[in-house]
Amino acid sequence: MSVEIKGFGLAQADTCITNRDLMNIVETSDEWIKERTGIEQRYFSSKENTSDLGVKASLKAIENANIDPKSIDLIIVATITPDSMMPSTANLVQAKLGLNNQKCLAFDVNAACSGFLIALQNAQAMIQSGFAHTALVIGAETLSKILDFEDRTTCILFGDGAGAVVLSNSNRVNSIGHYSRSEGNLDDILTTDSLSLNSDFKTNLKQSYYLHMKGQAVFRFAVKAMEDAIHEICKQENIKLDDIDWIVPHQANERIIQHVSSKLNININKFYLNLNQYGNTSSASIPIALADMNERGLLVKEQKIILVGFGAGLTWASTYFVV
Ligand code: ACO
Repeated sequence: MSVEIKGFGLAQADTCITNRDLMNIVETSDEWIKERTGIEQRYFSSKENTSDLGVKASLKAIENANIDPKSIDLIIVATITPDSMMPSTANLVQAKLGLNNQKCLAFDVNAACSGFLIALQNAQAMIQSGFAHTALVIGAETLSKILDFEDRTTCILFGDGAGAVVLSNSNRVNSIGHYSRSEGNLDDILTTDSLSLNSDFKTNLKQSYYLHMKGQAVFRFAVKAMEDAIHEICKQENIKLDDIDWIVPHQANERIIQHVSSKLNININKFYLNLNQYGNTSSASIPIALADMNERGLLVKEQKIILVGFGAGLTWASTYFVV
C-alpha cells in the first residue's frame, strides 16, 4: 500500500520577538545572533499552548488536503514541550478537533528535533500495516516555556510554533521513504534539567525544565548527522543528490547548513531556509518549512524532496518523498 503527503499547514505563535527585543533581556546583539546563526526574529506564544498551535496548523493542513476531518484515524504529535506530562498533546488536539467519537488513536513522540520525521515514519508504517488510513502528523512546540532567559547561549536560538501534514493511503506508486538513527551516549550535550526523585516522599519537589546545550559539540554532531542522513537516504532510495529539487533541513543554524552544503557539494540554494523568521522551533521546524514552501508555491508536483533532521537523544533522520 502506498502513502502520500496530501496537505500542509503551519501556525505562528502570537508574539514576534526580534533580536533587538532580546537585547533587553540578555547581553547580546542583533549582529552576533545574525552572524552566528542566521536568525533575525522568532515567535513566542503568550496565550496558546502546544496543543492550540497544533490544532491551528492541523486545520490548515486538513483544508489544504481537502479531506473530511472525520476520516482522520491517527494523530501523532512530535513535541518536547507538551501541554502537560499527560494526557498526550495529541489527545488534546484530538479533542479540540472534535474527533473523539470515532475510531482514532492519538499519541505523542519525543525524539527532540528529529521528532517530526520519526512521527511521519511511524504514521506511514501504521497506514501501511492497515491499522490507519489517514493520519495527522504534527510537530508543535512552545519552547519559550523551557528557555532559561538568563542564558544567552540558548535563549536566543529557539522559537514557538507548529506545522502539520496529512498523510494518507494513495494509489500512487510508493514515493516516500525514511532513514532514522539514534545514539544515547552523548546525552549531556543537549538536554533539559532532570526530574529529581522525591527522596523523602513527603515534601513537594520544585522542579525546573530548562534547556541546556553545549553549542559547539551540538554543531559538530549536527554536521555529521546531516551528512549521514542525506547520504544514507540517497543510497537506500537509489537516488542521486543531483536529482533532488529541495532539501528541507531542521532549521537550527544557517552555519550548520552552509557546512553541510560545502561538505556534500550541494548548492546552498537547494536548502530551504526560513530560520531567519522563526528561529529553531525543534520538532515543528521541518513541517513549518514545508507549509511555508507550499504557501509560496515552491512545492511542485513530481519534485523530489529530502527532509533532514537532528536533535537531542541524540537522534537524526531523513525522509525522501515525491511531491
Ligand atoms: N550574544 C553575544 N555573545 C554571545 C552569545 C550571545 N547570545 N552567546 C555566546 N556569546 C559569546 C560567548 O560567551 C563567547 O564569548 P568569549 O569568546 O568571550 O568566551 C563567544 O560569544 C563565542 O561563543 P561560542 O559558544 O564559541 O560561539 P559559537 O560560534 O560556537 O556559536 C552557537 C554559538 C550559535 C550556539 C553555535 O555553537 C551553534 O549554533 N551550535 C549548534 C546549536 C544548535 O543547532 N542547537 C540546536 C540543535 S538540536 C535542537 O534543535 C534542539
